[in-house]
Amino acid sequence: MTALQGETERALADARERIASHLVGRERALELTLAAVAAGRDIVLEGPPGTSKTTILTAITAEWGVPLLFVEGNADLTPAKLVGHHNPARVLREDYSADNFVAGPLVEAMRVGGFLYIEEFNRAPDDTLNTLLTAMADRAITVPRVGRIEARPTFRVIASMNPYDNVGTTRLSTSVHDRLNRLAIGYQDADAEERIVALRSGERGPLGERMTADAVAVTRATRRHPDVRQGSSVRGAIDCVLVAAQLARLRGVAEPDDERYPGLMLDAMIVSLSGRIHVDEAAETTPEAVLREIWEDRFVLEPRAAAPG
Ligand SMILES: Nc1ncnc2c1ncn2[C@@H]1O[C@H](COP(=O)(O)OP(=O)(O)OP(=O)(O)O)[C@@H](O)[C@H]1O
Ligand SMILES: [Mg+2]
Repeated sequence: MTALQGETERALADARERIASHLVGRERALELTLAAVAAGRDIVLEGPPGTSKTTILTAITAEWGVPLLFVEGNADLTPAKLVGHHNPARVLREDYSADNFVAGPLVEAMRVGGFLYIEEFNRAPDDTLNTLLTAMADRAITVPRVGRIEARPTFRVIASMNPYDNVGTTRLSTSVHDRLNRLAIGYQDADAEERIVALRSGERGPLGERMTADAVAVTRATRRHPDVRQGSSVRGAIDCVLVAAQLARLRGVAEPDDERYPGLMLDAMIVSLSGRIHVDEAAETTPEAVLREIWEDRFVLEPRAAAPG
């Protein structure tokens, strides 16, 4: 009996509380993901970048002490890369054997009873997806010249994908969807994003709090801008505060009401956000121009709204 499957009701609820203490918000996403994995099931987490998918999974696997193996789904993820290969030099000397097989992440996760986390799952080629689906259905895999490998009971496949991905979530066939559970995760509200940014940047005090509120507000504005296809995740807001804090040190800005503060924030926004927003090709504008517009809205047109309280 494993920690994952032999969980009594109380133990599962306790685990949820302990995991939740490592996360800002996300109670519901955590509970639903936990329910799926405790049920012995695999799941796809669908959400834009920076929406806590990896954070939730890392917290779950750390709580249970099960390994978490990462793989990035892309056109190069062949079945052989996922499953493993025989070491060619040793094959030449010794011929094929189970001994000179180098396990890929799928076989490794099955052997150790870990969670295999496939990011951008929808980008993997069809034959790779088929291999994965077979392993998920059978909880075992047969590797030529190695034999049958049974998964330990805690083995799970967690896939993730970005709903705005160009490669499209629609490319997956209905037979793929029919074999997976799914949870859609969106952006958190401004308050939770501020708590995440404060936690990750470590910037406190009046200046730190003001930078955090401003960085979160302008980052969220990039997601609503009509010329932006995909705005920045909370990672952009975290970096915006970190960069702004260093600029403040370099320029000797110590208070949020320093007249140089707005300009400093524009500079921090350019560095932290211009590469993270994807401007619509049809719109004749640049990330810098979009950011300046967002900055003007917050710092020039409505400076009052930007004031705390
Ligand atoms: N709920 C949360 N609590 C604490 N920190 C969080 C939370 N959500 C996100 N973060 C922080 O934000 C960053 C991005 O989160 P995370 O890596 O979980 O996103 P993701 O959904 O896996 O994104 P991607 O799809 O790009 O892989 C991390 O640095 C993490 O520390
Ligand atoms: Mg991630």
